[in-house]
Amino acid sequence: MVIVGDDPASRVYVNNKKKACGELGIYSEEYALPAETTEAELLELVERLNHKNDINGILVQLPLPKHINEETIINAISPKKDVDAFHPVNVGKIMIGNYDFVPCTPAGVMELIHESGISVEGKECVVVGRSNIVGKPQAMMLLHENGTVTICHSRTKNLAEITKKADILVAAVGKANFITADMVKEGAVIIDVGMNRLPDKKLVGDVDFTACEKLAGAITPVPGGVGPMTIAMLMKNTVKAAILQNDEKGAYV
Ligand code: GUN
Repeated sequence: MVIVGDDPASRVYVNNKKKACGELGIYSEEYALPAETTEAELLELVERLNHKNDINGILVQLPLPKHINEETIINAISPKKDVDAFHPVNVGKIMIGNYDFVPCTPAGVMELIHESGISVEGKECVVVGRSNIVGKPQAMMLLHENGTVTICHSRTKNLAEITKKADILVAAVGKANFITADMVKEGAVIIDVGMNRLPDKKLVGDVDFTACEKLAGAITPVPGGVGPMTIAMLMKNTVKAAILQNDEKGAYV
């Protein structure tokens, strides 16, 4: 795990990931670098970790400080150790639907859907948000399960009209209480990917939970909904990375 700078949210996320590794008996190292770290220095660390035999997975916590190009760093991580599934090779595999690593947050959402006994097939699925980390891969994963998928974003016209048609609504906007009860169909499955800190420090999602809960067929809370699932999927990818790399070395043959 690599963290650059002192973003408080990133610190919490990295601590949670480190804790999960400890609980599962996964060896982990944390590289906490100062905000002034240069892109070249970070690239050098990534390259060192790419070649470190006792490390199977590399995670560079985002966002990075403005002077570092995130794409350059992500592209430098070996696709075989890319447990976030952010590298273009892994993103491409997600597009095709045949992949080694699941994108952690969207995969966590899918796991919640499956474990709740909900089928995606033929459902109207609406994803609000089009980020590379969540919105885009989420849409692909719902599509792979034969959902009819619509992606909405900041330029979408008549947003409420579209979200109101959703059987499955995934909110990944990054704005507190963005999805209100008038935007939701009765009985909808509402999955809240948002993590927003209110001025009083309270952590809330993108969905007005209190109002939408009354209408929803199923709904995830924040905190305690998608967040822990993201970490679980990261652990799954890390174990998979170790198995794939050991297989390559012939250890399991
Ligand atoms: N920042 C916010 N979410 C994530 C994530 O899933 N992985 C990494 N590396 N950074 C993030």
